[in-house]
Amino acid sequence: MKPFLTGSAAFAAGIALFAAVATAQQDFTPDYAIEDDAADFATEAPANPSEPWILAAGGRIYDNWWEALNRPAPHYITHPSYPEVGQKSGAETWRCKECHGWDYAGVQGVYRAGSHYTGIKGIEGAKGKSVAEIFELLRGPVHLYNREMIPDDALARVAAFVSRGQFDMSGYIDPSTRQIVAGDINRGREVFQTICAACHGFDGRKLNWGGPGEDAYIGTEAVDVPDEVLNKIMHAHTGVEMINLQAFGPELAVDVLRYTSTLPTE
Ligand code: HEC
Ligand code: HEC
Repeated sequence: MKPFLTGSAAFAAGIALFAAVATAQQDFTPDYAIEDDAADFATEAPANPSEPWILAAGGRIYDNWWEALNRPAPHYITHPSYPEVGQKSGAETWRCKECHGWDYAGVQGVYRAGSHYTGIKGIEGAKGKSVAEIFELLRGPVHLYNREMIPDDALARVAAFVSRGQFDMSGYIDPSTRQIVAGDINRGREVFQTICAACHGFDGRKLNWGGPGEDAYIGTEAVDVPDEVLNKIMHAHTGVEMINLQAFGPELAVDVLRYTSTLPTE
Protein backbone atom coordinates (compact mmCIF):
# COMPACT_ATOMS: atom_id res chain seq x y z
CA MET A 1 0.00 0.00 0.00
CA LYS A 2 2.93 2.28 0.62
CA PRO A 3 3.54 3.21 -3.02
CA PHE A 4 -0.14 3.92 -3.46
CA LEU A 5 -0.15 6.20 -0.41
CA THR A 6 2.97 7.93 -1.62
CA GLY A 7 1.47 8.39 -5.03
CA SER A 8 -1.76 9.65 -3.58
CA ALA A 9 0.05 12.03 -1.24
CA ALA A 10 2.07 13.37 -4.16
CA PHE A 11 -1.10 13.74 -6.15
CA ALA A 12 -2.75 15.58 -3.25
CA ALA A 13 0.27 17.85 -2.91
CA GLY A 14 0.11 18.52 -6.62
CA ILE A 15 -3.55 19.44 -6.33
CA ALA A 16 -2.81 21.72 -3.38
CA LEU A 17 0.00 23.45 -5.31
CA PHE A 18 -2.22 23.81 -8.36
CA ALA A 19 -4.99 25.22 -6.18
CA ALA A 20 -2.62 27.74 -4.58
CA VAL A 21 -1.29 28.90 -7.94
CA ALA A 22 -4.79 28.95 -9.35
CA THR A 23 -6.06 31.05 -6.42
CA ALA A 24 -3.23 33.52 -6.85
CA GLN A 25 -3.80 33.94 -10.57
CA GLN A 26 -7.44 33.13 -10.88
CA ASP A 27 -9.00 36.35 -9.74
CA PHE A 28 -10.29 37.25 -13.15
CA THR A 29 -10.28 33.84 -14.78
CA PRO A 30 -13.56 33.56 -16.66
CA ASP A 31 -16.09 31.27 -15.05
CA TYR A 32 -18.68 30.21 -17.57
CA ALA A 33 -20.65 28.00 -15.19
CA ILE A 34 -24.25 29.18 -15.26
CA GLU A 35 -25.86 29.48 -11.83
CA ASP A 36 -29.26 27.95 -11.25
CA ASP A 37 -30.87 31.38 -11.10
CA ALA A 38 -28.94 32.80 -14.05
CA ALA A 39 -30.13 30.94 -17.10
CA ASP A 40 -29.45 31.92 -20.72
CA PHE A 41 -32.01 34.72 -20.77
CA ALA A 42 -30.20 36.55 -17.97
CA THR A 43 -26.58 36.27 -19.07
CA GLU A 44 -26.42 35.23 -22.75
CA ALA A 45 -26.99 37.19 -25.96
CA PRO A 46 -29.61 36.45 -28.65
CA ALA A 47 -28.34 35.49 -32.12
CA ASN A 48 -29.72 38.67 -33.67
CA PRO A 49 -29.81 41.33 -30.94
CA SER A 50 -32.26 44.22 -31.27
CA GLU A 51 -31.50 47.78 -30.15
CA PRO A 52 -33.63 47.51 -26.96
CA TRP A 53 -31.95 44.24 -26.04
CA ILE A 54 -28.48 45.78 -26.50
CA LEU A 55 -29.32 48.85 -24.42
CA ALA A 56 -30.95 46.87 -21.60
CA ALA A 57 -28.03 44.42 -21.53
CA GLY A 58 -25.62 47.38 -21.43
CA GLY A 59 -27.63 48.91 -18.60
CA ARG A 60 -27.26 45.71 -16.58
CA ILE A 61 -23.49 45.80 -17.08
CA TYR A 62 -23.57 49.41 -15.82
CA ASP A 63 -25.46 48.12 -12.75
CA ASN A 64 -23.24 45.14 -11.89
CA TRP A 65 -21.10 43.65 -14.68
CA TRP A 66 -20.06 40.45 -12.89
CA GLU A 67 -23.63 39.49 -12.05
CA ALA A 68 -24.83 40.55 -15.50
CA LEU A 69 -22.11 38.47 -17.19
CA ASN A 70 -21.90 35.62 -14.67
CA ARG A 71 -18.24 36.27 -13.82
CA PRO A 72 -16.28 36.24 -10.57
CA ALA A 73 -16.62 39.44 -8.55
CA PRO A 74 -13.43 41.53 -8.06
CA HIS A 75 -13.56 41.17 -4.27
CA TYR A 76 -9.85 41.49 -3.65
CA ILE A 77 -9.17 45.10 -4.53
CA THR A 78 -10.80 48.50 -4.31
CA HIS A 79 -10.86 50.21 -7.71
CA PRO A 80 -7.73 52.40 -7.96
CA SER A 81 -9.85 55.33 -9.25
CA TYR A 82 -12.22 55.11 -6.27
CA PRO A 83 -11.46 58.25 -4.25
CA GLU A 84 -10.31 58.51 -0.61
CA VAL A 85 -13.49 60.40 0.35
CA GLY A 86 -15.65 57.44 -0.67
CA GLN A 87 -17.04 55.09 2.01
CA LYS A 88 -17.10 51.89 -0.06
CA SER A 89 -14.41 49.29 -0.70
CA GLY A 90 -13.82 46.07 -2.63
CA ALA A 91 -16.06 44.78 -5.40
CA GLU A 92 -18.72 47.48 -5.00
CA THR A 93 -16.23 50.10 -6.18
CA TRP A 94 -16.00 48.35 -9.58
CA ARG A 95 -19.70 48.93 -10.39
CA CYS A 96 -20.21 51.81 -12.85
CA LYS A 97 -23.20 52.94 -10.83
CA GLU A 98 -21.10 53.29 -7.67
CA CYS A 99 -18.96 56.07 -9.19
CA HIS A 100 -21.46 57.55 -11.67
CA GLY A 101 -24.84 57.01 -9.97
CA TRP A 102 -28.08 55.20 -10.81
CA ASP A 103 -29.17 58.46 -12.45
CA TYR A 104 -25.96 58.71 -14.56
CA ALA A 105 -25.45 62.20 -13.11
CA GLY A 106 -22.62 61.46 -10.64
CA VAL A 107 -21.96 64.33 -8.25
CA GLN A 108 -24.76 66.37 -9.85
CA GLY A 109 -27.28 63.64 -9.08
CA VAL A 110 -28.56 61.67 -6.11
CA TYR A 111 -24.98 60.72 -5.11
CA ARG A 112 -24.16 64.41 -4.52
CA ALA A 113 -24.30 63.50 -0.81
CA GLY A 114 -24.61 60.48 1.46
CA SER A 115 -22.82 57.15 1.78
CA HIS A 116 -22.33 56.82 -2.00
CA TYR A 117 -20.65 60.21 -2.44
CA THR A 118 -17.47 60.14 -4.55
CA GLY A 119 -17.43 63.59 -6.17
CA ILE A 120 -17.03 61.96 -9.61
CA LYS A 121 -18.99 63.43 -12.48
CA GLY A 122 -21.74 61.65 -14.37
CA ILE A 123 -21.60 59.96 -17.77
CA GLU A 124 -23.98 62.41 -19.45
CA GLY A 125 -21.07 64.15 -21.20
CA ALA A 126 -20.46 60.96 -23.20
CA LYS A 127 -24.02 60.78 -24.55
CA GLY A 128 -23.86 60.52 -28.34
CA LYS A 129 -20.11 59.79 -28.45
CA SER A 130 -19.00 56.90 -30.61
CA VAL A 131 -19.07 53.42 -29.12
CA ALA A 132 -15.39 53.02 -30.12
CA GLU A 133 -14.34 56.08 -28.14
CA ILE A 134 -16.26 55.02 -25.01
CA PHE A 135 -14.91 51.48 -25.40
CA GLU A 136 -11.31 52.79 -25.36
CA LEU A 137 -12.06 54.92 -22.31
CA LEU A 138 -13.30 51.86 -20.43
CA ARG A 139 -10.20 49.80 -21.31
CA GLY A 140 -7.94 52.74 -20.38
CA PRO A 141 -6.03 53.71 -17.21
CA VAL A 142 -8.92 55.44 -15.39
CA HIS A 143 -11.27 52.47 -15.68
CA LEU A 144 -9.01 49.40 -16.02
CA TYR A 145 -11.70 47.00 -17.27
CA ASN A 146 -9.74 44.21 -18.99
CA ARG A 147 -11.08 41.44 -21.23
CA GLU A 148 -11.27 38.89 -18.43
CA MET A 149 -13.60 41.19 -16.54
CA ILE A 150 -15.74 42.53 -19.39
CA PRO A 151 -15.18 40.85 -22.78
CA ASP A 152 -15.23 42.93 -25.97
CA ASP A 153 -18.82 42.17 -27.00
CA ALA A 154 -20.13 43.05 -23.54
CA LEU A 155 -17.98 46.19 -23.31
CA ALA A 156 -19.41 47.34 -26.65
CA ARG A 157 -22.89 46.91 -25.15
CA VAL A 158 -22.22 49.05 -22.10
CA ALA A 159 -20.59 51.62 -24.41
CA ALA A 160 -23.76 51.58 -26.54
CA PHE A 161 -25.77 52.10 -23.38
CA VAL A 162 -23.62 55.13 -22.46
CA SER A 163 -23.92 56.54 -25.98
CA ARG A 164 -27.59 55.82 -26.73
CA GLY A 165 -29.31 54.31 -23.68
CA GLN A 166 -28.96 56.80 -20.85
CA PHE A 167 -31.80 59.23 -20.23
CA ASP A 168 -32.21 62.35 -18.10
CA MET A 169 -33.78 61.29 -14.80
CA SER A 170 -33.90 64.73 -13.21
CA GLY A 171 -37.43 65.39 -14.52
CA TYR A 172 -38.66 62.12 -12.99
CA ILE A 173 -36.79 61.97 -9.66
CA ASP A 174 -35.67 65.09 -7.83
CA PRO A 175 -31.92 64.60 -7.29
CA SER A 176 -31.83 66.55 -4.04
CA THR A 177 -34.91 65.03 -2.32
CA ARG A 178 -34.89 61.67 -4.15
CA GLN A 179 -38.67 61.98 -4.51
CA ILE A 180 -40.53 60.72 -7.58
CA VAL A 181 -41.96 63.80 -9.27
CA ALA A 182 -43.57 62.33 -12.42
CA GLY A 183 -45.49 59.31 -13.69
CA ASP A 184 -49.09 58.28 -14.29
CA ILE A 185 -50.13 55.96 -11.44
CA ASN A 186 -53.08 54.46 -13.32
CA ARG A 187 -51.03 53.63 -16.40
CA GLY A 188 -48.42 52.16 -14.08
CA ARG A 189 -51.03 50.03 -12.36
CA GLU A 190 -52.15 48.62 -15.72
CA VAL A 191 -48.60 47.53 -16.55
CA PHE A 192 -47.75 46.30 -13.06
CA GLN A 193 -50.83 44.13 -12.67
CA THR A 194 -50.49 42.54 -16.11
CA ILE A 195 -46.69 42.09 -16.23
CA CYS A 196 -44.73 42.57 -13.02
CA ALA A 197 -47.28 40.84 -10.77
CA ALA A 198 -46.61 37.51 -12.48
CA CYS A 199 -43.39 37.28 -10.47
CA HIS A 200 -43.70 39.95 -7.79
CA GLY A 201 -47.36 39.43 -6.82
CA PHE A 202 -50.18 41.99 -7.03
CA ASP A 203 -48.92 43.78 -3.91
CA GLY A 204 -45.22 43.44 -4.85
CA ARG A 205 -44.48 41.25 -1.83
CA LYS A 206 -44.00 37.85 -3.42
CA LEU A 207 -40.24 38.38 -3.81
CA ASN A 208 -38.33 39.75 -0.82
CA TRP A 209 -34.61 40.52 -1.17
CA GLY A 210 -34.19 42.03 2.26
CA GLY A 211 -31.84 40.66 4.90
CA PRO A 212 -32.99 38.96 8.12
CA GLY A 213 -35.62 41.05 9.91
CA GLU A 214 -35.64 43.63 7.14
CA ASP A 215 -38.08 43.64 4.24
CA ALA A 216 -37.13 44.76 0.75
CA TYR A 217 -40.08 44.57 -1.61
CA ILE A 218 -40.64 46.57 -4.78
CA GLY A 219 -42.68 49.03 -2.70
CA THR A 220 -39.86 49.44 -0.17
CA GLU A 221 -37.24 50.09 -2.84
CA ALA A 222 -39.44 52.37 -4.95
CA VAL A 223 -39.80 54.71 -1.98
CA ASP A 224 -36.19 54.49 -0.74
CA VAL A 225 -34.17 54.22 -3.97
CA PRO A 226 -36.44 55.15 -6.91
CA ASP A 227 -33.46 55.85 -9.22
CA GLU A 228 -32.27 52.28 -8.69
CA VAL A 229 -35.74 50.83 -9.28
CA LEU A 230 -36.10 52.86 -12.50
CA ASN A 231 -32.89 51.21 -13.72
CA LYS A 232 -34.24 47.76 -12.86
CA ILE A 233 -37.48 48.50 -14.75
CA MET A 234 -35.60 49.76 -17.83
CA HIS A 235 -32.88 47.07 -17.83
CA ALA A 236 -34.00 44.27 -15.42
CA HIS A 237 -32.23 43.08 -12.31
CA THR A 238 -28.87 41.40 -13.01
CA GLY A 239 -28.38 37.64 -13.20
CA VAL A 240 -32.05 36.69 -12.86
CA GLU A 241 -34.83 36.00 -15.31
CA MET A 242 -36.62 39.33 -15.06
CA ILE A 243 -38.27 41.18 -17.95
CA ASN A 244 -37.57 44.86 -18.72
CA LEU A 245 -39.49 47.71 -20.34
CA GLN A 246 -36.63 49.09 -22.49
CA ALA A 247 -38.61 48.52 -25.70
CA PHE A 248 -41.29 50.96 -24.45
CA GLY A 249 -39.06 53.80 -23.27
CA PRO A 250 -38.56 55.63 -19.97
CA GLU A 251 -41.99 57.36 -19.78
CA LEU A 252 -43.82 54.06 -19.28
CA ALA A 253 -41.12 52.87 -16.86
CA VAL A 254 -41.70 56.02 -14.78
CA ASP A 255 -45.46 55.30 -14.73
CA VAL A 256 -44.68 51.85 -13.31
CA LEU A 257 -42.18 53.31 -10.85
CA ARG A 258 -44.78 55.75 -9.58
CA TYR A 259 -47.33 53.00 -9.08
CA THR A 260 -44.82 50.73 -7.29
CA SER A 261 -44.16 53.54 -4.79
CA THR A 262 -47.80 53.09 -3.64
CA LEU A 263 -47.33 49.38 -2.84
CA PRO A 264 -46.70 48.08 0.71
CA THR A 265 -43.19 48.77 1.99
CA GLU A 266 -43.22 46.09 4.70
C1 HEC B 1 -13.96 53.79 -9.38
C2 HEC B 1 -14.76 54.80 -10.01
C3 HEC B 1 -15.27 54.58 -11.41
C4 HEC B 1 -15.95 53.48 -11.89
C5 HEC B 1 -16.30 52.21 -11.17
C6 HEC B 1 -16.31 53.79 -13.23
N1 HEC B 1 -15.87 55.05 -13.57
FE1 HEC B 1 -16.25 56.04 -15.28
N2 HEC B 1 -15.09 57.59 -14.67
C7 HEC B 1 -14.46 57.66 -13.46
C8 HEC B 1 -13.65 58.86 -13.42
C9 HEC B 1 -12.77 59.29 -12.26
C10 HEC B 1 -13.85 59.50 -14.65
C11 HEC B 1 -13.20 60.80 -15.12
C12 HEC B 1 -14.04 61.93 -14.61
C13 HEC B 1 -13.45 63.28 -14.97
O1 HEC B 1 -12.91 63.41 -16.07
O2 HEC B 1 -13.58 64.16 -14.13
C14 HEC B 1 -14.78 58.69 -15.41
C15 HEC B 1 -15.28 59.03 -16.64
C16 HEC B 1 -16.23 58.29 -17.34
C17 HEC B 1 -16.86 58.68 -18.57
C18 HEC B 1 -16.63 59.98 -19.32
C19 HEC B 1 -17.64 61.02 -18.89
C20 HEC B 1 -17.53 62.27 -19.73
O3 HEC B 1 -18.15 63.27 -19.32
O4 HEC B 1 -16.89 62.26 -20.77
C21 HEC B 1 -17.70 57.66 -18.95
C22 HEC B 1 -18.57 57.61 -20.18
C23 HEC B 1 -17.59 56.64 -17.95
N3 HEC B 1 -16.70 57.07 -16.98
C24 HEC B 1 -18.29 55.44 -17.99
C25 HEC B 1 -18.14 54.42 -17.06
C26 HEC B 1 -18.73 53.11 -17.20
C27 HEC B 1 -19.63 52.66 -18.33
C28 HEC B 1 -18.31 52.38 -16.12
C29 HEC B 1 -18.56 50.92 -15.84
C30 HEC B 1 -18.29 49.97 -16.92
C31 HEC B 1 -17.51 53.26 -15.29
N4 HEC B 1 -17.40 54.47 -15.91
C32 HEC B 1 -17.00 52.92 -14.05
C33 HEC B 1 -14.56 56.76 -12.43
C34 HEC B 1 -15.22 55.54 -12.49
C1 HEC C 1 -40.34 36.80 -14.89
C2 HEC C 1 -40.32 37.24 -13.51
C3 HEC C 1 -40.24 38.73 -13.24
C4 HEC C 1 -41.01 39.75 -13.78
C5 HEC C 1 -42.13 39.62 -14.80
C6 HEC C 1 -40.56 40.94 -13.15
N1 HEC C 1 -39.57 40.68 -12.26
FE1 HEC C 1 -38.62 42.04 -11.06
N2 HEC C 1 -37.44 40.57 -10.32
C7 HEC C 1 -37.54 39.24 -10.64
C8 HEC C 1 -36.55 38.50 -9.88
C9 HEC C 1 -36.32 36.99 -9.93
C10 HEC C 1 -35.85 39.44 -9.10
C11 HEC C 1 -34.70 39.17 -8.12
C12 HEC C 1 -35.25 39.00 -6.74
C13 HEC C 1 -34.18 38.71 -5.72
O1 HEC C 1 -33.03 39.12 -5.91
O2 HEC C 1 -34.51 38.07 -4.72
C14 HEC C 1 -36.44 40.73 -9.40
C15 HEC C 1 -36.02 41.91 -8.83
C16 HEC C 1 -36.66 43.11 -8.99
C17 HEC C 1 -36.31 44.33 -8.30
C18 HEC C 1 -35.25 44.46 -7.24
C19 HEC C 1 -33.89 44.62 -7.67
C20 HEC C 1 -33.02 44.88 -6.46
O3 HEC C 1 -32.78 46.04 -6.18
O4 HEC C 1 -32.56 43.93 -5.81
C21 HEC C 1 -37.19 45.29 -8.71
C22 HEC C 1 -37.21 46.73 -8.25
C23 HEC C 1 -38.07 44.69 -9.67
N3 HEC C 1 -37.73 43.36 -9.82
C24 HEC C 1 -39.10 45.34 -10.30
C25 HEC C 1 -39.92 44.78 -11.28
C26 HEC C 1 -40.95 45.49 -12.00
C27 HEC C 1 -41.38 46.91 -11.72
C28 HEC C 1 -41.47 44.62 -12.91
C29 HEC C 1 -42.46 44.91 -14.00
C30 HEC C 1 -42.06 45.96 -14.95
C31 HEC C 1 -40.79 43.35 -12.73
N4 HEC C 1 -39.85 43.49 -11.74
C32 HEC C 1 -41.09 42.21 -13.44
C33 HEC C 1 -38.42 38.67 -11.52
C34 HEC C 1 -39.35 39.33 -12.28
